[in-house]
Amino acid sequence: MLRDGKAITVSGITREFGPATAVDGISFEVDRGEFFGFLGPNGAGKTTLIRMLTTLLKPTSGQAIVSGFDVAEDPARVRKHIGVVPQAMTSDLDLTGRENMDIYGRFYGIRSGERKERIEYLLEMVGLAPRADDLVATYSGGMRRRLEIARVLVHKPALLFLDEPTIGLDPQSRRVVWELLKKLMQGDSITIFLTTHYMEEAELLCGRVAIIDAGKIIAMGSPAALKAGIPGNDIVTLKVGGLTDEIIGAMEKLPFVHKVSREEDSLAASVDNGAENLPQLIDVVRASGGAIVAASVHEQSLEDVFIHYTGKSIREEEARKVSFLIGAGMPQRLGR
Ligand SMILES: Nc1ncnc2c1ncn2[C@@H]1O[C@H](COP(=O)(O)OP(=O)(O)O)[C@@H](O)[C@H]1O
Ligand SMILES: [Mg+2]
Repeated sequence: MLRDGKAITVSGITREFGPATAVDGISFEVDRGEFFGFLGPNGAGKTTLIRMLTTLLKPTSGQAIVSGFDVAEDPARVRKHIGVVPQAMTSDLDLTGRENMDIYGRFYGIRSGERKERIEYLLEMVGLAPRADDLVATYSGGMRRRLEIARVLVHKPALLFLDEPTIGLDPQSRRVVWELLKKLMQGDSITIFLTTHYMEEAELLCGRVAIIDAGKIIAMGSPAALKAGIPGNDIVTLKVGGLTDEIIGAMEKLPFVHKVSREEDSLAASVDNGAENLPQLIDVVRASGGAIVAASVHEQSLEDVFIHYTGKSIREEEARKVSFLIGAGMPQRLGR
């Protein structure tokens, strides 16, 4: 039934909203049993893509085959084989955890005995068995997320879609969800498709990652391959008093420096070996009249891969979005 054993085959999928193109001609394949992630900033098109793959939104053009069926031509068949955890929490606060799961199991027509057994097993698996008969209204965000993951597993989907599963969770709850997803991958041969804007989440969980920006895939591969595909190994960040273009120019001439980018009074240099190269970088700053305010070294991450291809950071994008929202909420100037 599955074409070439692929869980997902997408070719040139596009979605327009009026004049705006949210997803712009994306193509990729996901093998059965893969943990595949889409990493990208807010507004990159992740939710639009996942909504098309899960039959909730029609593509403007292009094609997606999910679990062997075309999402546009055979949506009901696709839905039978997938589980979807949307970005917003959808469990019913006025019901208990177990009741939430039971309604879902009935919807999929699973018979009573089997349903009870499966729900018991899943509640245990996500660590909610002791709270199963409490109202969801009394759950923490992390517990609610775990319940929603357990719930979509009731009908044993071959393919699980998760849209930003840890968004808004505190670091500890996030880690619990990560452990749960890792555990899922060890069990039955399930395929997981996840979107996230947390690079550490993609790096920790995904066997393969597509980096998405402005509706397009800009790079794709295993986290290790993506990092190996950009120059340098470490990033040295220096906060410099009196930072000038001259300092940056001098630094770019050093043989072990691959790229230097500047953000206000800080610079980030991608280098061969951070710890070894740091003293010489500091010398260059001082020789050009700059003062070191702070210095740090870190290994290149998927964040640096994103910066390499787009010239901006995922985080920066977020910050800009927030300030834009604050700006939009400001009262209009009077007396025009
Ligand atoms: N229903 C819609 N109508 C108009 N524009 C939309 C709609 N849904 C998403 N968009 C736009 O499409 C782009 C991608 O959004 P989305 O897929 O939600 O991104 P992400 O999930 O990566 O944050 C954004 O610019 C967003 O404003
Ligand atoms: Mg989204």
